[in-house]
Amino acid sequence: MVAVSEYLLDNRARQARDRFGALSALFDRVTDQHFEAIGVAAGWRCWEVGAGGPAVPRLLAERVHRGGTPGTVLATDIEIGWLGEMPAGVEVRQHDVVHDEVPGAGFDLVHARLVLVHLPERETVLRRLAGTLRPGGWLFVEDVETALQPVAFLDPHADVEFLGNRIRADFVALLEQRGADMTFGRKLPRLLRWCGLVDVTADGRITLAHPGGADLERANIDQVRAGLVGQGHVTAEEVDTYLSALDRLTPAGPPLISVYGRRPE
Ligand SMILES: C[S@@+](CC[C@H](N)C(=O)[O-])C[C@H]1O[C@@H](n2cnc3c(N)ncnc32)[C@H](O)[C@@H]1O
Repeated sequence: MVAVSEYLLDNRARQARDRFGALSALFDRVTDQHFEAIGVAAGWRCWEVGAGGPAVPRLLAERVHRGGTPGTVLATDIEIGWLGEMPAGVEVRQHDVVHDEVPGAGFDLVHARLVLVHLPERETVLRRLAGTLRPGGWLFVEDVETALQPVAFLDPHADVEFLGNRIRADFVALLEQRGADMTFGRKLPRLLRWCGLVDVTADGRITLAHPGGADLERANIDQVRAGLVGQGHVTAEEVDTYLSALDRLTPAGPPLISVYGRRPE
């Protein structure tokens, strides 16, 4: 596991709220489309792993309460301070998905977005998550696959965009140094099958330009500013130049791979 102190984008930092807002803006629509395709419905018991902010548990709560018998959503994270007030039927619990016992069994859906990529024990955790499904239940994992599209600006013109690409490369290198696997997304279909799941479906979303891209970039780069400068490839002044230019730039978001599979009946 990435111990709390090792996780590069530690949620106790003030930038976490902005990061969760940006991730919601970039990816909630994609995630919810997959909830629709899976058929998440009234009465389902769902576990949202590494929930971070409130957005995804709320999306799930809306679906499991829409008509029929209300379902439940368990939202867990090592840091639950950003989850805020939750609708009825959502339980928030502090939980380390690497070290703690699984918090239940017989789930209809287990979903983890942008969590496993950071954890060196990701494959063991994946198996453990699959083991908490009821027969017929779904495991749905979404993670970045930066190796597929590594740059912040695919068509750089201005100097600051070339600088942004250098800084993005350094940021990705920092994540890798902390144990992240930036090619994890492409491995997920194989790994879900290895977990015994069937009907495995996978696709990806590459966001070329979106306001959420700038917000995510600002939160991430600001939080790891010292680490970036410490690598010696960019100066503190260059990082500040990039951060202050982000108001007028639209960097690409990281590519998101969404993969789900079902435990056989
Ligand atoms: C990049 S954020 C993604 C948050 C949210 N899933 C989303 O997509 O908006 C990664 C989340 O994983 C959580 N996390 C990291 N290590 C964890 C662990 N060992 N157990 C549970 N959650 C963990 C972090 O606290 C953080 O909230």
